[in-house]
Amino acid sequence: MRRMKQKLNKWTTHIPIRWRLTLISLGLFTVLLSGLGTIILLMSEQALLNNQIDALHNEALLAVKGLRNHPFVLSKPPGPPEGQLSPALLSSLIVLGERLTSSNSDAIILSPSGTVMVPSNDFPLAPMPIRLSPAEIHQAMTDDSEGSKLVRDAHKLRQLVVLIPLVNDHQTVAILQISTPTSTIDEFITTLRFILLLGVGGALSIAIALTFPLIGTALRPLVEIERTSRYIAEERALSMRLCAPATNDEIGRLTLSFNQMVEQLETAFKRQKQFVSDASHELRTPLTVLRGSLEMLLIGVDRGDIETSRRLARSMSSEVLRMQRLVEDLLALTRLDEGRRAAREDIVNVRTIIDKVYDQAQQLARGQDIRSDVAANIFSVRADPDRLQQILLNIVENAVKYTATDGCVKLVACNGVDNTVVIEVRDNGKGIPAEALPHVFDRFYRVDSARSRIAPQRIGGSGLGLAIAKELIEAQGGTITIDSIFGQGTTVTIRLHAVTNDVEVTPQSL
Ligand SMILES: Nc1ncnc2c1ncn2[C@@H]1O[C@H](COP(=O)(O)OP(=O)(O)OP(=O)(O)O)[C@@H](O)[C@H]1O
Ligand SMILES: [Mg+2]
Repeated sequence: MRRMKQKLNKWTTHIPIRWRLTLISLGLFTVLLSGLGTIILLMSEQALLNNQIDALHNEALLAVKGLRNHPFVLSKPPGPPEGQLSPALLSSLIVLGERLTSSNSDAIILSPSGTVMVPSNDFPLAPMPIRLSPAEIHQAMTDDSEGSKLVRDAHKLRQLVVLIPLVNDHQTVAILQISTPTSTIDEFITTLRFILLLGVGGALSIAIALTFPLIGTALRPLVEIERTSRYIAEERALSMRLCAPATNDEIGRLTLSFNQMVEQLETAFKRQKQFVSDASHELRTPLTVLRGSLEMLLIGVDRGDIETSRRLARSMSSEVLRMQRLVEDLLALTRLDEGRRAAREDIVNVRTIIDKVYDQAQQLARGQDIRSDVAANIFSVRADPDRLQQILLNIVENAVKYTATDGCVKLVACNGVDNTVVIEVRDNGKGIPAEALPHVFDRFYRVDSARSRIAPQRIGGSGLGLAIAKELIEAQGGTITIDSIFGQGTTVTIRLHAVTNDVEVTPQSL
C-alpha cells in the first residue's frame, strides 16, 4: 500500500504543473456539476411526486363528495377502527372503488387492519393492482410520507400508492388505496437526466478547451524563468535578465525577485573578481621590492658594507610588515563576507577606549597636536571592545597620515540623539576631494593611489582600512560617515547604540 502511494507520488510529481492544474480544476468542476445535477434531479422528482399525491387526494375527495348521503369524510390522522359495517356503507365503498378506478389509476378498499374489503374491479386498461402487507400499510400511514409509498408492481414498474383513511362518525371504517404508475414522472426525469448529462458534458468540454490554454498562458513566465535560470547556470551568463513583467501578481513579483537575485549574484561575482585582482596587485608591489632587495644582497651590492646590508634588510622587513598587514586585512574582510560578525558584543565604556586610542595616537603622531574631548556623562555602548579600539586606531592613523606635522587631530565623544553615542575623529589635514568622498569606503580605494605608494614616503596603505571599519561598525549595529573639505580637513563620525546601567568591559591590548 505504502509502495503504491510512493509510486503514485512519484508519478504525480513527474506530471507537468500545467496538466496537474488542469486535472485538479476539471476534477473539481466535474464533482460540483454532478452534485448540482443530482440535487436538481432529486428535487424535481420529489416535486412531481408531491404533485401527483395531491392530485390523487383531490380525486378521492371529489369521488367521496359525489357519494349519496356523504357517508365518509377523508381523515388525517385516521380515527379508531369500526368493527362491523352496515350494508349501506359497504355499497358506498364499492361505488367509491369503482369511481376511482380508471385507465390511469387503480383503487381498492382495505379494512383498517389492512385486509382487502373491496378488491379492484376489472377495468380493462387499469394499472396492475398493488397489494401491500399490513406492516407496509401501517408504516405508510404512520410515517411522514403523508400515506404515500413508491412500490414496484408485478411488471417491475414503479407505482405511487396513496392510502387515505375513510371516516364515518369519528370512526375509521376503511382505508382507500389508490395506486398510479409513475411512468410520466419517470420519463420526465430520464429526459431531464439526459439534458443535465449533456449540459455537464458540454460545460466540461468548454472548460477543457479554455482551462488548458489559459493555464499555459499563466505559466508561460514560469517556463521562461526556468529556461533563463538554466541558461544562466550552464553558460554563467549573469548579465542576462528576464523581461520585466507587466503584472504585479505572484509571477510578476517572482520575476522581479529573480532579476534582483541575478543582479546581486553578478555584483558579488564582479566584486569577488575585483577583490582577487586588487589583492594580487597589492601583494605584487612588496614582493617585487623584496625580490629586488634579495637579488641585490645575493649579487653582493653591499660589498661587505654593513650599513648597506642593514638598509636593504630594513626595507625588506618593512615590506614583509606591509604584506602581513595586508593579509590580516584581507582575512578580516573574508570573515566579514562570510557573515562572521564581531566575535564579542559587550557593554563598553567609551571613555576607556578613547583614552587608549589617544595614548596610541600620541605614539603615531609626527608632531601633530593630538587632543581628546569626552563628555562627562557619556553612555556606554554595546560593541566588541577590541574591534572598536582597532577601528578608531585605523581612523586616527589616517588622520595622522594625511595631516601636516603642525596640524591637529582631535578625538571627540558625546551622547547623541535617539539613544546613541557619537564618536568623531577630526583633523585639519589635506582633506578629501568631493568626487572621491563617496568611494573612500570602497575596498582598495585610495584618493591618490599613484602618488601615495611612491617611495620613499609610502604613506598610503592598501585602501582597506575604512572598508573594514565600515563593515565592522555596521556589524555592531552602528553607522560610520565621513565629511571632508578638500584642503581644510576631515571628520569621521561613528554612531553606536548607547546602553545605560552597564557593566564595564575594557579592551584587551591590541
Ligand atoms: N583623514 C583623512 N584625510 C585625508 N584623506 C583620507 C583620510 N582618511 C582617509 N583618507 C583617504 O581615503 C583613502 C582610504 O582610506 P583607508 O583607510 O581605507 O585606506 P588607506 O589608509 O590608504 O590604507 P589602509 O588603511 O588599508 O592602510 C585613503 O587612501 C586616503 O586617500
Ligand atoms: Mg587607513
